[in-house]
Amino acid sequence: MKASVINEFGDVNVLKYSDVETPKPKRGNILIKILAAGINRFDLYIRKGEVAPELPFPHILGTDAAGEVAQLGEGVTSFNVGDRVIPAPGYPTKEEEYTIRPTNTAPSFTIPGLGVWGTYAQYMEVPERFVMKDITGLKPEEVATLPIAIATGVHATKEIGGVKAGDKVLVHSGASGSGSMIIQIAKALGAQVATTVRDNKKGEAVKKLGTDLVINTREEDFVERIKQWTGGQGVEVVIDNLGGDVLAKSLESVKPGGVVVAFGFVAGTQVSFDIRNLFFKQKQIRGSMASDIDDLKYGLELVRKGKIKPVLDHTLPLSRAAEAHRLIAENKVTGNIVLLPWEE
Ligand SMILES: NC(=O)c1ccc[n+]([C@@H]2O[C@H](COP(=O)([O-])OP(=O)(O)OC[C@H]3O[C@@H](n4cnc5c(N)ncnc54)[C@H](OP(=O)(O)O)[C@@H]3O)[C@@H](O)[C@H]2O)c1
Repeated sequence: MKASVINEFGDVNVLKYSDVETPKPKRGNILIKILAAGINRFDLYIRKGEVAPELPFPHILGTDAAGEVAQLGEGVTSFNVGDRVIPAPGYPTKEEEYTIRPTNTAPSFTIPGLGVWGTYAQYMEVPERFVMKDITGLKPEEVATLPIAIATGVHATKEIGGVKAGDKVLVHSGASGSGSMIIQIAKALGAQVATTVRDNKKGEAVKKLGTDLVINTREEDFVERIKQWTGGQGVEVVIDNLGGDVLAKSLESVKPGGVVVAFGFVAGTQVSFDIRNLFFKQKQIRGSMASDIDDLKYGLELVRKGKIKPVLDHTLPLSRAAEAHRLIAENKVTGNIVLLPWEE
């Protein structure tokens, strides 16, 4: 099969469009023909060697995909060849841990494109239990924008952040792959949502997602604007996919007893803040990483009901994965870029 393979860590040029052996599905596994593969910023960190320095090569990146069942391993009963499917964006690699919940707490939990070969390929192998029937009714390239963003977004917003109807929530980087989903998840949970962007073009795009307040942080201080929006109180929850200095300011944007969910580190991995701002007002910082299989089911049901729409920037053939990585690194993407493995 064709795949975009890395044989070393490095810049975008380490992504090589090559031939590799097509996996043969083991007992209990399914071979999925990938119709579209999503790209996430996390893939860039793995490519650069910042996540798993011991990764064995050759390696195939990519967590998100939409596809169809190509071949059934022995014992697989719940799918037929040709079914449209979505692989879960993470699962335990040890069979004895398949039933551990939340899925992401299993010791052998990993995501495709990290601990196992990923989706930048024409085929991938996934355990039957972690393959979902595609109920969305969307095109493959739209579906491929969803799995990790929607599942981790549900996990961070509903499970870790505890967002509920009537809450005011701040979501950073509303035009990002994660932010654009989290806004819609928080709205579906009945919250009012503010979001940050750094240019007005992306601001217009996020307004279409139902955002109640858009703050361009190059023009306004988001802490001040959030204070105005909440009558001086602060929001109940911030979902912080940026980290760094932004997270310190997120802490100033939550009300007493409020929660900041640490979700990403685009703006930096180190944070410095006055500890009194945390404990005098009994605020909390909670980490959220990956998701449970039920988070994916919950999110896809929202998609099926039309409450969440994919945000597809554009598609590129799989052979142009390097270009897609470059565009993400340059912050030129609204929502997600998707690779098409069968397009020249
Ligand atoms: N915890 C989890 O389970 C989980 C799941 C998914 C993603 N994540 C993390 O969430 C983060 C975002 O991922 P993503 O896939 O949504 O990324 P993305 O789609 O590439 O979007 C990131 C956006 O951040 C903005 N940005 C870049 N540098 C910035 C800075 N210094 N200050 C403020 N904004 C900046 C840019 O938008 P503008 O130029 O428009 O501002 C950029 O487009 C990553 O760290 C990722 O690893 C975590």
